[in-house]
Order: sequence, then C-alpha cells, then structure tokens
Amino acid sequence: MDKFWSDYPDIQKDLEEVRRMIEKCVSNGNKLIRDVLLDMIHAGGKMIRPGFVVLAGRFGKYERKKLCSLAAMIEMLHMATLIHDDIIDNALIRRSKPTIQAEYGKNYAVFIGDFLFCQCFLLLSDSIAVKDIKKVSKAVSRICKGEIEQFESQYDVNITVTQYLKRIAAKTAVLFALSFYIGAHESNCDERLSRTLASIGYNIGMAFQIIDDILDYTGNEVVVGKPLGNDIRQGIFTLPLIYALQKGEREEITPILQKRSYDECEVKKLIEFARQAGGIEQARELARRYTKKAFNKISSLKECPSKQVLTEVAEKLLHRAY
Ligand code: IPE
Ligand code: IPE
Ligand code: MG
Ligand code: MG
Repeated sequence: MDKFWSDYPDIQKDLEEVRRMIEKCVSNGNKLIRDVLLDMIHAGGKMIRPGFVVLAGRFGKYERKKLCSLAAMIEMLHMATLIHDDIIDNALIRRSKPTIQAEYGKNYAVFIGDFLFCQCFLLLSDSIAVKDIKKVSKAVSRICKGEIEQFESQYDVNITVTQYLKRIAAKTAVLFALSFYIGAHESNCDERLSRTLASIGYNIGMAFQIIDDILDYTGNEVVVGKPLGNDIRQGIFTLPLIYALQKGEREEITPILQKRSYDECEVKKLIEFARQAGGIEQARELARRYTKKAFNKISSLKECPSKQVLTEVAEKLLHRAY
C-alpha cells in the first residue's frame, strides 16, 4: 500500500481492510474487469478520501466494518471518476501505469468506470439509509457537472479565477467534504460536528486540487505518477496559468494561445510563462489560504488524537510532491 498514511498505523490498518473490501467488490466482474481493477488498486493510490472517512468516524462512535465499507465505497467512486477523467483528458499514465483507456480503449474504460459506480451503490445500499444515499448521488452529479464545465471551458483564455474555483469545488472538494460527512454522520456524530468536518474536508479538497494543478507544472513525473503538462496539452487552463494570464505580458504567448493544439515546445513555453509571471507562486498561496481555513475550523474541534492527525495530514497534503 502507498506510504501516505504510514505514520498512522491505526488508520493504515483500516485502509488495508478497505482495500480487501474493494478487491472483493471488483471480483464480481468478469475476468478482464477484475484483472484491470486489481491492477489499478495495486498500482498504489494514496487513499486520501477513504483515509478521511475512517478518520472522521473516529470523532464519533464508529462501527469498524460499516466505516470501512463506506470508505471502500468512496474510494471506488473516486476510482470510477479517475477512469472516466482519463478518457476525457486523453491521459496515458495514471499511478505510474498505462491508463485503462490507453491500454484497453475508451469503450472498455467507460464500462469499467460504470461497473465501479454500480458496485459503489450496491455496497452503499447494504450499509446506509436511502436518504443518505441521496447525498452520495448528489455528490456524483456535482462531480459530473464540474467535469462538464471544465470540458466546456477548454482553451478559454478568459476563464476567471471564480470560474476555476467553482469547477474544482464541484469536481474535487465535494467528494472530500462527502468523505468527512459520511464518516462522521454514520458514526453517530451530531449534525453540527458532521457539517464542521465536511467543511474542513471541503477546504482541504480545494487546496488538494490546486496543488494537483500546480504539480502538473512543477512536479517530478516519476514521483507524481502522471505525465506533466497534460492540463495545458488538453487546453485545460488551471490556476497558475489563469493568474499568469491576468498579470503577465501576454504578447509573446498570444500566437500559441490562439491555437487549439500545442506541440511540446509550446507546452513548455506556457509552463514557463506561468512560472515567470508568478502564477505558480500565487496559486500556491491560495492553496495555503484554503488549508488555513481548514486549520481554523479544526481548531474549534474538541481535543482528541484524531484532531492532531487531521492537522498533520492537511499540512502534509499542502506540501506533497505527488
Ligand atoms: C487525483 O486524485 C484526482 C484529483 C482530484 C486531483 P489523487 O491524487 O487522490 O489520486 P490517487 O488516488 O492518489 O491516484
Ligand atoms: C480531477 O482532476 C478529476 C476528477 C475529479 C476525477 P484532474 O484531471 O486534475 O485529475 P488528474 O490530474 O487527472 O489526476
Ligand atoms: Mg485528469
Ligand atoms: Mg490533475
């Protein structure tokens, strides 16, 4: 398993159980589905969201099996969105391995993603009330809306920071918020605490996506496990470039921006433009601000070991290299 949670053996142990549950769910598919998804699980995702489900549960009175099953559901949901996201983004590498769409084609990738979505709801229907299933369905709808909005703003050089933030809230922060909410709510935390935890998750999620977008400009490809520059290559303008376009001297890159496909040299030029204009640093500053918002809310929680873990993990995500 990925080393992300290795400092927290208690959480890590639950995540091992979560992984076994996912393995069991994907074994319901045919041989291809099973083999492909087992490979994806073993390629080593960070398991951030299921980690947050089990961590949030520790703020209440949790039932381990139920909590792990909810965490498994959230991770499968995340995996399904990644499989479909890679189709849209034409991504070739994920978790340092060829993506499903690259290896088996887009048709298979659509079906395998759908299969995972179904497994999520199957697992969910065993463990929680129908009204809570609605929350999960709403979150999935918002992720889809975020992805569609992103697709619609491809190559839009006038995209605003507000539009960008709306898009990442929907496609990423909502699932972080849900992970906290569901872990807390299903472990008998009261509504107020569950919502506070959800809001912490939301802010961590916003910072998380901003850092992911920065890593697309600055990361080490081997460490990140995804090719760099893919956002620009696909005409997806994220925060570093949006900020740079607002304040940088655009003239030199205007001929590039007017095109709807970039060669590798042009991708590099746009990355360099974002860096020189201070867009990357400014984006990092906004990620810090979201993390700080999360810290402020964390400080209102009553003292317990999980509060400390939460603070450390939020900090670690801000400084992560992958
Ligand atoms: C990738 O999420 C998708 C984003 C929301 C940026 P992760 O970085 O959590 O992906 P894995 O699960 O570790 O591969
Ligand atoms: C996250 O955005 C997409 C989802 C919500 C599925 P990205 O497109 O930035 O994710 P990566 O970089 O491909 O992991
Ligand atoms: Mg992508
Ligand atoms: Mg990305």
